[in-house]
Parts: sequence; C-alpha cells; structure tokens
Amino acid sequence: MCGIVGYIGKREAYPILIQGLHRLEYRGYDSAGVALIGSKESKLRVFKAKGKVADLEAVASDKDCTGTLGIAHTRWATHGVPSEKNAHPHISQSGQLTLVHNGIIENYATLRSQLEKRGYTFKSETDTEVLVQLIEYFYTNLENNEQHTVEDAELLVSAVRQALHLVIGAYAICVLDSRHPDQLVAARKSSPMVIGVTEGNEEFFIASDASPIAQYTKQMVYLNDEEIVKCERGHELQLFKLTGEEVGVKIKEVNLDLSMLDKGGYPHFMLKEIFDQPSVLRDCMRGRLVGSKLHDNEWIPEKVVLSAVADHKEALLRARRIIIVSCGTSWHAGLIGKQLIEHFCRIPVEVAYASEFRYSDTVIDKDDVVMAISQSGETADTLAAIEMAREKGALIFGVVNAVGSSIARHTDTGTYIHVGPEIGVASTKAFTGQVTVLTLIALALGKAKGLVEEREYEDVLAELNQIPAKIEKVLQQNNKIARLALKYTYAHNFLYLGRGYNYPVALEGALKLKEISYIHAEGYPAAEMKHGPIALVDSEMPVVFIATHHELYQKIISNMQEVISRKGRILAIVTEGDEQVKNMVDEVVEVPETMACLSPLLTVIPLQLLAYHVAVCKGLNVDQPRNLAKSVTVE
Ligand code: F6R
Repeated sequence: MCGIVGYIGKREAYPILIQGLHRLEYRGYDSAGVALIGSKESKLRVFKAKGKVADLEAVASDKDCTGTLGIAHTRWATHGVPSEKNAHPHISQSGQLTLVHNGIIENYATLRSQLEKRGYTFKSETDTEVLVQLIEYFYTNLENNEQHTVEDAELLVSAVRQALHLVIGAYAICVLDSRHPDQLVAARKSSPMVIGVTEGNEEFFIASDASPIAQYTKQMVYLNDEEIVKCERGHELQLFKLTGEEVGVKIKEVNLDLSMLDKGGYPHFMLKEIFDQPSVLRDCMRGRLVGSKLHDNEWIPEKVVLSAVADHKEALLRARRIIIVSCGTSWHAGLIGKQLIEHFCRIPVEVAYASEFRYSDTVIDKDDVVMAISQSGETADTLAAIEMAREKGALIFGVVNAVGSSIARHTDTGTYIHVGPEIGVASTKAFTGQVTVLTLIALALGKAKGLVEEREYEDVLAELNQIPAKIEKVLQQNNKIARLALKYTYAHNFLYLGRGYNYPVALEGALKLKEISYIHAEGYPAAEMKHGPIALVDSEMPVVFIATHHELYQKIISNMQEVISRKGRILAIVTEGDEQVKNMVDEVVEVPETMACLSPLLTVIPLQLLAYHVAVCKGLNVDQPRNLAKSVTVE
C-alpha cells in the first residue's frame, strides 16, 4: 500500500513524479503529495492534497514546481485519517529533511513519546512523521559530535541507518535533505522498492515498483530487506546493509510491456484486463505448452515444459504434502490448484490463508512444499508465511505475476504467470493466469509421477490450448451481461453458489462484486446453502449459480429448485445449449463446453463482467474502489 516515487537527475522532476504517482495510484489513493528542490536555489517546496493524484495536480497547478530533485507519494491510510495534514511527504522539525514512507512503524507510539521528551513536536497523526523526526534527531547528533567522525555527505545515510535500527515494522522510505540537494537516500524492509539507473549515473528513479521507471531505463536495482541506498548525481549507486557494511549493486535488466500500463481504449483498467485474458493466457502458456505444428495456425500440444518443475523434480516428487499460502483472489486460485494437484498428482494439498498460516503452529518439515501464490509478489502476509516455512526447511515454490518482486526473489523456485501488469484493483487476469499455471504444474508433476494416463494428458493439453479462444466467445456476451447487470443494481445481498472446481469460482465471483460494487455477497458450496444461507432467500435475493455440465450438474439443479421454491431470482452460468436450466431460471449466461477441471477459466469470466457492470451502473470507481489498495504490503 502507498506508492513512492523519487527522482534525481537533470530533467524537471515534477512531471516524472506525477506520472509515476498515476502509475502507482493502484497502491493507494486517499491523499497525495510531492516535495521538490529547485536546481538553482535549494528551497524546499511541498504540496499535498486529500484525494487522488489529480487533486494534487490541481493544488500544484499555480505553484512553482521546478526542480530536478523530488519525492512524491500516494497514500493508503493506516495511521491517521486521509487528510492534507496526514498526507506525505512529512517534514522534520527543522525543515531540513523530507520523507515519504510505505509500510507501518509498529513501535511509533513509543518512539514518538521519546522524541516528544526531547522537544520534538508533531503536526500529523502518522507513524511516518515519527520516522522523519527520528532521522533528524540522529542527523543532528552526528553533526554535533565533536569528533566529526562522519563526513558531511554521509550524514543522511548514517542517520537513516541509526534511526532504522530502532524501528519495528515495515518500511520503504525515500528521504530528501535540503542541505544536500545532490542526493536521495532510500531504504526498505518488507515493503518493495526499485531503483532505476541511467547511463553514467546521471539520473536515478526510485519507485515502489518498476512501472514508473520502465519508460526511462531498463537498468534496475531491487532493494533487499534492510538495505539503504544512496543515489548521488554522477556517482555510482551506493548500497549499505543496516549494519553499515557496503554491499555490491546488482543491476537487472527489466523489460516491461509499456502498452500494458495504459487503458488501451477501454474505459477502465478492469475491463481491459478482463478482455486481455485470451491473449495473456496464450502468453502464459507460450513455451510451456509445447507440441508440433499441423498447419499454419494449428498445432497439437504434446507436453508441458516447466523449468521450475524440471529443476526441482526430485524434491517435488517426494513431497509429502503441498501447502498453498495466499490471500484473497490468489487464495481462491489456490483452492482450484488443490483440486488439480490432488487429482493429477495424488499429493495431499492444504490451502491456507497466509495471514493465519504465518502465526500458526502448522507442522511443516523438509518434505513439505510450500507454494506461495501472489499477483503482486509483495503481499506482506504471504511473504511472512514463506519466511516461516523456510525456517522449518520446506521447499518454497512461487506462483507470481510481478517479475522481480519480493516473493519471486524469496522463493527457492517458481513459475511466473506472465499476464502483464494488473492495474485494476480487483484482480481478474491474474486469477485466470494463476489457475492456468496451477494446471500446468499439476499436469507436469502428475506426468513425472507417472500418474496421468497418456490419453487424459493429451486431452487436457489440447483443451487447455483451446481455452483462450473459448474465453473470447464468453467475452462476446459482454453487452448482454451489461444489460443484465442493470437489473441487479437494486440488490443489497447476493449469493454465489457452485460445486467442485466451481465452488472457488463462486467465492471469487462474490469477492469481485463486494469489492467494486459494495454489495454484500457470499460464496458458498451450493449444497451447503440449506445449512444456513437459505434463510436469506426471498424474492429480492439474487442467487448466482454456476451450473455447467459436469459431474454434479443434477445435484446443482436440485439446489436451484430449493431457491426457486423460495422465490429467489436465479442467474445461472451454464454450458452452451443447456435448455433445462434455461427453462427453470430467470437469466442464463452460456459458456462453451469444456472439462470440469478447466471450467473455472470460463465460468469466472461472466462473473468478472457482472461485477464490473453492476459497479459501473452504480456509478462507482471501478479501478479504485473505496478502502482498497492493489498491493497489500502491510499486515
Ligand atoms: C481481489 C484482490 C485481492 C488480492 C489479495 C492478494 O480482487 O485483488 O484479494 O488477490 O490481496 O494479493 P496478491 O495476489 O498480490 O498476493
């Protein structure tokens, strides 16, 4: 949560910072701010606004925004309500230091009262202001030290290091010292931070992820936990551990598809990302589903090639158990992964909420594999869960989207889903990407174990290859779903019901609706309805059934009858050509026929579209729903 951007170089900083904040707005959008230092006279200027980055731009529009050094922030409130006063950057007591922060300082109350005893006063309710005052406290001490052991240009790095030693919690910070307008200092622990470097070290870009940097340079450095970086114009980047020891800088070449970072003509990122699914799933399978060519555009997939599975085959084959740890939508994908892995590999799988798992006393040993699923690769709970599992000796396998993210770097091995940056706060293409990769993993592992019959293997591969084209068919019903959505905006509650592979899809459909339309929705296994939720059903209550032609189809029809007898309004997701359900219920949306194990890749699409259109009909901000942020980097 919260997005940070910093720039030091030869260009005007303000446009770079503002554009960067727009790219990071998915991380938080309740207030924003920018601090700039002019290149001629080093006067600090700070502008802040409650609301979105656009509100900040309005505030700054008639101000002097020149300068080649600056830091900026878009906030997701943790300590203190969203307001101009609590917005970052925060300035130290003397006005010399300015800081932006992403994360939570857990011991901020203790630190604040210690600083107050030393005469510091505070203007905001934030934990961040404590940090900037603490750094200033150490800065002043170092400066006043009669022995003068620290050189002037090193004062900021040293003060940051001393302050961070006292901090308990998570942080990514960027600090600006108005007495040294040739340097920017940044640091991280449990919150992401990337530095972009240009030729000759003329410019440095600092950001919470690579998206604000990618258009300027591909050369990036991902900070590790408890590292501090000093960016100084014309000098090599300097990297220090919290202990003070200088460490080597590892520059990575990062290639981001910049076209993925804009809406590409769609009104919202969420709709674009829903429509991106056929092409990004093709990307996700490219090179992993391999086979031979038939004609020009036709080919037959013959096998799954996943380097992570090949490289760790022994450990994966002897896995006693797989524990999937994840949150939210990624947790729902994990529930589908469990069914896939248990079916194809006969390895027992548990699916845990990372937030619970990290504090649990789960028995784990070196024959367990812990699989972390995460779109952002920065979710604090998931990161902590894998650290806990690593200490107990388990192999850590990542299923991640964001390349180079913290989770990707902290796993022993893994498979990227490669669906491109997901910007809409409600996750869509990441879910189908995760399910696709989990299917590939289950098939590769099941084959390696000799448990998947050749015929079944070939059939599933062939069908998986057809899924993107089948999603295209589902997407053709977008206008119909938009019309349907209009009829449901009145509702205050929704039930989503499914069974087997489609029970997690019911959970996911309900989550999508809750997140962006603010309508209360619950997902349930369809047969569980009669054990409680059926009490909610009346003529006002929309019930969404996922009722495709699979094993439990007739059972689902019985569950529908139970709703119909109580006058509930049913919207059913059915297999193309299904007449039985069509004749029973109020509305149907058809999806092409497919295998049960692949059906979530199709059935989730109308539910994503339904949530999207209900929210649009209600006039809500689909890409930035209230109270949410895309990347949950706090506990
Ligand atoms: C829902 C959503 C969240 C995330 C969850 C985990 O639309 O986006 O529930 O799925 O916060 O995030 P990642 O996958 O980044 O670890």
